Amino acid sequence: GSAEGIVVAIDGPSGSGKSSTAKGVAAARDLWYLDTGAMYRAVTWWMLRNGVDTTDPAAVAAAAAHPVITMGTDPAAPTVQVDGRDVAREIRTPEVTTHVSAVSAVPEVRERLVALQRDIIARGRRQAGGIVVEGRDITTVVAPDAPVKLYLTASAEARADRRSREVSADAAATRADLLRRDRLDSSRATSPLTRTEDAIELETTGLSLDEVIAVVVKLTDEAAAGT
Ligand code: DC
Repeated sequence: GSAEGIVVAIDGPSGSGKSSTAKGVAAARDLWYLDTGAMYRAVTWWMLRNGVDTTDPAAVAAAAAHPVITMGTDPAAPTVQVDGRDVAREIRTPEVTTHVSAVSAVPEVRERLVALQRDIIARGRRQAGGIVVEGRDITTVVAPDAPVKLYLTASAEARADRRSREVSADAAATRADLLRRDRLDSSRATSPLTRTEDAIELETTGLSLDEVIAVVVKLTDEAAAGT
């Protein structure tokens, strides 16, 4: 209904600028922010910590219901907890990054996290002006009816460059890992990363973060005004 807040859905490959853009837009319009990649990373961290073989889909599926994931949606200070423990730093390690594509390809993991994501989105629409959600399947599966749907891209060089600055790692290794992950994320059977016809594609290679945020804020304002 008209009293409900807006949903801005953003998908794209690693390093396309999704997180920075989503946070910037949420902060600019006082909306909630949800990093769904952090949720897949949090489940992956739990699997590794509990000795689950992440290359065995049946083992991952059997354990999928165990970790309790709690997300904080303030764009200025987003949080992620597993069983009440803050894992913001742990989920960015190379070990989690290496295993996350395998874990996120398991349907039981996705089912559970998508349900949780829809729940957070519904609360954001009721309790705030709405929510900006970023990931790989937000425009296709999690929130296909979102009034703003975006697909962010950038050249492989630009993406590897951004990511290696974020994690202060070697650029060549980061690029190889990023391309490997994109291949896996785009080719998996369940909810692969794809661009839908009705998502607006934004090529961010030559743009500054502020420019990208400005474009998305404008689209958000237009959608909120019903134009
Ligand atoms: O955005 P990120 O790099 O932190 O995401 C980590 C991994 O999680 C990514 O390689 C694929 C997976 N993922 C997913 O399958 N679906 C989402 N909606 C978000 C992330």
